[in-house]
Amino acid sequence: MNLVLLGPPGGGKGTQAKRLQDKYGLVQLSTGDMLRAAVAAGSEVGKKAKAVMDAGQLVSDEIVIAIIDERLDQPDVAKGAIFDGFPRTVAQAEALDAMMGRKGKKLDFAIEIQVPDAYIVERITGRYTCAKCGAGYHDKFQLPKVAGQCDSCGGTEFSRRPDDNVDTVTKRLDAYHAQTAPLLPYYDKKGALKLVDGTMDIADVTKALEGILDAAK
Ligand code: AP5
Ligand code: MG
Repeated sequence: MNLVLLGPPGGGKGTQAKRLQDKYGLVQLSTGDMLRAAVAAGSEVGKKAKAVMDAGQLVSDEIVIAIIDERLDQPDVAKGAIFDGFPRTVAQAEALDAMMGRKGKKLDFAIEIQVPDAYIVERITGRYTCAKCGAGYHDKFQLPKVAGQCDSCGGTEFSRRPDDNVDTVTKRLDAYHAQTAPLLPYYDKKGALKLVDGTMDIADVTKALEGILDAAK
């Protein structure tokens, strides 16, 4: 099974992809995580992407399409992928359709996690992750069970993304509405679009997503 998670920055794509991947044997493919890894490694792609990401704009289609094309050839994605943050433009969606066809794979559906803009600043500015294993948390909505200690690996160091600030969030939301929202009619026309209310608690959003995935098995 291969599916796309759509939704605004801070909408819960990464949180939900991590919760679904083990249960369904799927691999989370987050272009945001891959680009942040490239920035941290100081690679050519990372050097090109850093300023664009810090400004809350989209990295070029060419770069992200090449990253996904290469990643899809690795054996761990054979059972399926959860695309998280890709595609983000109609050109990326068309490229994904073409590369899936070339590789003998099929995209089953795209699910929009619907969250109004009014929720987003609080979601983004409260987000932090474990510096060791990447598990995600939130100052108010998703605290570790033991304060200051990661539930998954016991790590005690946490980090916040440089683009998780009020100024950049506004720009990321603008980019979402202008460049990514057109993917909703794109997938709807193919009969592939499903909707989930992303304002519910994290566990309830997961249940709604599992309902869609279970029905498709
Ligand atoms: P990316 O990393 O993809 O960022 P994004 O789309 O802005 O999405 P986020 O990761 O911020 O949000 P999310 O939906 O994953 O939310 P999360 O689950 O963490 O991209 C970063 C940048 O890279 C882009 O701006 C762009 O420059 C570049 N880029 C990446 N892909 C690209 C592409 N394809 N093309 C071009 N450029 C690209 O949740 C957020 C917080 O809320 C967490 O703290 C979580 O605990 C909490 N939370 C989650 N769900 C709930 C809930 N239901 N209730 C309460 N709290 C919740
Ligand atoms: Mg994310």
